[in-house]
Amino acid sequence: MPIYERLIEDHHRQRVLLGRIVDSAANLESRRRLWQQFRRVALCHADAEEMTLYAQLEANPTGMGRARLSMMEHKEAAEDIERLDEMDMASPEWMEKFQSLERALRHHMKEEEEHVFPLARTIISEIMARDLARSFDERRGALA
Ligand SMILES: [Fe+2]
Ligand SMILES: [Fe+2]
Repeated sequence: MPIYERLIEDHHRQRVLLGRIVDSAANLESRRRLWQQFRRVALCHADAEEMTLYAQLEANPTGMGRARLSMMEHKEAAEDIERLDEMDMASPEWMEKFQSLERALRHHMKEEEEHVFPLARTIISEIMARDLARSFDERRGALA
């Protein structure tokens, strides 16, 4: 399996968790549990994505600009996640900030799927894309 399919599976997990957190308003315990799960998946995903796909794109003149933009968005999301972690999860401010993170991440994942992966397919060979999927799993698994 090339790395793109693996990344899309992970995006799907994140989208499901984002939706479930929004729906968890009435139950703080389940919101807390879902948030911890989401936090781990989102941070591990971005880390492993940078070590594999974006390392390759950044090393290529055509992919470099796009790689740096995506990695900057990862950094912003990680900062928002840390801030949310310190806030009162029962407050309306928490949900407001969470929803702004949700919008940014949904946009980020859509951009990756519609623009970054097609660009990467022109830069990275099929064989390399399969090797990267294995590296992604190793890195991602080690952190999970
Ligand atoms: Fe990403
Ligand atoms: Fe991603």
